[in-house]
Order: sequence, then structure tokens, then C-alpha cells
Amino acid sequence: MTGSYLAPYPLGRLRRTRSTAWSRALHRETVLTPGNLIWPLFVCEGSGEEQPIASLPGVSRWSVDGIAARAREAVSLGIPCLALFPHTPADLRSADAREALNPDNLICRAVKAIRDACGSDIGVLTDVALDPYTSHGQDGLVDAQGYVVNDGTVELLVEQALVQAGAGADIVAPSDMMDGRIGAIRRALEGAGHVNVQIMSYAAKYASAFYGPFRDAVGSRGLLKGDKKSYQMDPANGEEALREVALDIAEGADSVMVKPGLPYLDIVRRVKDRFDVPVFAYQVSGEYAMIEAGVAAGAGEREALVLETLTAFRRAGCSGVLTYHAPFAARLLSA
Ligand code: PBG
Repeated sequence: MTGSYLAPYPLGRLRRTRSTAWSRALHRETVLTPGNLIWPLFVCEGSGEEQPIASLPGVSRWSVDGIAARAREAVSLGIPCLALFPHTPADLRSADAREALNPDNLICRAVKAIRDACGSDIGVLTDVALDPYTSHGQDGLVDAQGYVVNDGTVELLVEQALVQAGAGADIVAPSDMMDGRIGAIRRALEGAGHVNVQIMSYAAKYASAFYGPFRDAVGSRGLLKGDKKSYQMDPANGEEALREVALDIAEGADSVMVKPGLPYLDIVRRVKDRFDVPVFAYQVSGEYAMIEAGVAAGAGEREALVLETLTAFRRAGCSGVLTYHAPFAARLLSA
């Protein structure tokens, strides 16, 4: 593929096809549409509530009725899927995260409200992990030494996924990074008759410094002691991401995710080149906040920054992107 067959300059001029807008459109390799976007939303208690999140300017938590309204908005914008995260009241958090298994918890009520508002016009993705429900902010159960235990956590994640599927979730997305959870969840979903519920695995999820605003949004930041490095991946590792993806596919994941997004586009490309599966990426809260801070500082234009970064995900091989800019981008793309 290298240049040896190219006509030498001036017979070959790569600027010819770039010289007009129509020609650039004709030669564009990567297409970005609202259909490539997944919109993450934060759910809070109450009704008629909108709670702005200071570290995520422009993003709010919404009570269940507001979530239903956002779902209608998403449908009208051509956004095919929402991802839901709960802000669990402090008194419902516990060491064993039992609220995660409550079939009437915030997430289950939000899923049902979206279904009532939009039927099957939109997909609903729910996050499988315990951190919005634990009093310590870790994604799993913690033993006496402070270690996040694997197998006991997986048992709870399976129950959590079944509760979410029972409420009507279309995609369950384990974001916890425990070993063996994809296979366990897949077998349980099959056993319960949820044969068409998809699993989008957070297969390569890194112990990243870009999650801070998210932890504010779900109310975990002040609770979390220590870090998540004993289960989330080392940002220095790429080969290991391929092993994570291979395992999750073998265990029954329908699609895989890389997270965070922009700093890990090399991982997206390697996964896409190695495995013939749909790959998604999460442009996480810290990335969103950096773009907004850049805009506020006059470092760039929001429209251009958002479209360029989202196009980069597509070019790297993503089927779609989870992004807090989803409604903003969808409006731009359909203008
Ligand atoms: C936790 C979870 C996190 C995010 C999604 N699910 C944070 C974490 O692992 O601490 C981060 C998303 C974002 O930063 O936007 N299960």
C-alpha cells in the first residue's frame, strides 16, 4: 500500500481531490451520523428534577420523568441508544450494594419509563457494576484487606444483570472488569429466557484519571478510597487489552468497548484489526470536560472539536461512541 504505484509529482497531486467541497465530500472515507452515537444519562430521585453537574458543564442528572423526555428527544434526533447511570441516595448505598438488585431501583424505573415513552424506538443500555450502590465506591465487594473480590462480585453482577434485563434493558454493559463475568451473565440471561438481550462488554477498561466528573455525577467521588488498579487495566498495556477482548468474545459478548476513548484509539484499531466484532468506545467524562474547558478558554470551537473527535473514533474502527456530546453532535449532523 505504500507509495510506489503513485504517479510522481506533478502527474500525481493529492491536493486535486481536496480542492473543492463537493470533491472532498465524494472522497470522504469516514461517515459519522447520529446513528453512531450512544447518549449516557444520569438518573436521580424525585420528579421534575434537573441537577447540573459542576464538573460536567452542560450535563445534568434528571429524575425519571426527565429521562423519559430525554429519550423522546434522542428518538427525534436519530440517536439509537441511551446508557443509564444512577445517582443512588447515600442512605441506599451499602457495603454489599444490595440496592443494585432491587427491581424497583432508579435504573429499573428509568428503563420502564423510557419503554413507556418510546416503546422499542430506542435501545437502552444499562451499566453492570456495583460502584453506584456501594458505600465505598468500588465496583465490587471488598474483603477485610480492602481487596475487591472477584467471584463473589460476579455472583452479584449476574443478579444485577438479570434485574436490569427483567426491567427491559436491551443491552447490559458490564463495566466492572471482574474476570469471568461475561460468561456468567450470558449463561444466566439464556437460562432466564433473555436470549436477545445483548452484552456490550467494557472489555478494555483502563484505570484512568479521566473518570473524575463521572464519579461526581454518580456520587462516588467522596466515597472512593484508593484506586481501581487491581481490576481496571494499566494504561501502559496494549497486548493485555487483546487478551481481555478475546476472552469476552469467547464468553459471549456481542460487542466490546474500549474506555477511555481518545487516548486509547490505538487499542480500538488493534482490536478492530484482530477481531471481527463490533467495537465501541466511551469518550468519558474527563474527555468531555477537557473539550468544554478548552472551549471556555478560547482554545477551539465546540462544533469543530466535537465533530473532529467523534470522526476520529469512527476512523479508528468504532461502530459507535458513547459521548455526553451526543445530542449536540446529533443536532449538528442533522442540520
Ligand atoms: C464504573 C464506571 C465508570 C465510568 C463508567 N462506569 C467510572 C469508574 O470506573 O470509576 C466512567 C465513565 C465516565 O467517566 O464518563 N463502573
